[in-house]
Amino acid sequence: MNSERIEDIAQAMVSPGQGILAADESTGTILKRFDSINVENTEDNRRAYREMIFRTEEAMNNFVSGVILFEETLYQKAGDGTPMIDLIRKANAVPGIKADTGAKPLAGSPGQTVTGGLDDLRERMTKHHEAGARFAKWRAVISISDSLPTRAGITANAHALARYSAICQEVGLVPIVEPEVQMDGDPGDHSIDRCAEVSAAVLKATFDQLEEQNVVLEGIVLKPNMVLPGVKSARVSAEEVADKTLRVLKAHVPVAVPGIAFLSGGMSDEEATANLSAMNAMFNAPWKLTFSYGRALQAPALKAWGGQAQNAPAAQQAFTHRARMNGLAALGQWAQSHEQAA
Ligand code: 13P
Repeated sequence: MNSERIEDIAQAMVSPGQGILAADESTGTILKRFDSINVENTEDNRRAYREMIFRTEEAMNNFVSGVILFEETLYQKAGDGTPMIDLIRKANAVPGIKADTGAKPLAGSPGQTVTGGLDDLRERMTKHHEAGARFAKWRAVISISDSLPTRAGITANAHALARYSAICQEVGLVPIVEPEVQMDGDPGDHSIDRCAEVSAAVLKATFDQLEEQNVVLEGIVLKPNMVLPGVKSARVSAEEVADKTLRVLKAHVPVAVPGIAFLSGGMSDEEATANLSAMNAMFNAPWKLTFSYGRALQAPALKAWGGQAQNAPAAQQAFTHRARMNGLAALGQWAQSHEQAA
């Protein structure tokens, strides 16, 4: 992928049968992941783990079109001195950078957050573009409860997403626009229909603001949540998730957007795969429908690795399997039987 046009980069990020690996866990978030396998959260362990993932050639070459990095990784070198970003480029995947600085309390809206990071964004993104990043990611966090989200919260987050997107495009980065309506917020017991209603309001506000801030829709990738019941509510079928998610997307996402790459947000690995495949099987969408998973792509590999170098082959096999399953899902071709066939 040699073109520097944001429209071409966005298309490459949603190549057929491929998706995006979200490996941009902040140092605090990777701590939680490493705690779950009793591995110390040192820079060396973070490098060793991510290097192992990026060196999984079968998965990276065939099923991964882009990798979202945390700043540390973008400037880090692999054990043999190769820049980590070169491992990603070698796999013909587009390297990207987490751009936001996290969710902060929104004044005047108790319990509501707005994502920060706009103040020095142009300078930071210019530097990361020079370092080789070709896209960025900004995550707005929308929780559901009796009192949330607030109207002010939806508007402020949509505005920040649009301001971020305009700056990214100005410096040659494709913005991943991620308004996440959380399935695992507090209390996490909402219905799928409540998620649909909130997701619709959030997407409407987001696209209104993107238009107002002159963002080129052909040069973005949308990263939304699927429409799901809260984690503490009863699960529903993949067909119901697919149907309700597609209804919301059809009503609110312009066809100029090249691709929609879902976050996994707390779904199990297989649930994330099954829901994506159901959507692609059900509807010949005007946008590519693919994955941009963190947990749902990495969890089995992380567990198999357990911080031990000798477990790398098993971890790489686990990563390849999930990447392959999600690659099939991006084409609407996954079936439960493929899981056992591995
Ligand atoms: P999950 O797929 O684990 O939700 O992570 C995706 C992501 O990038 C969240 O910002």
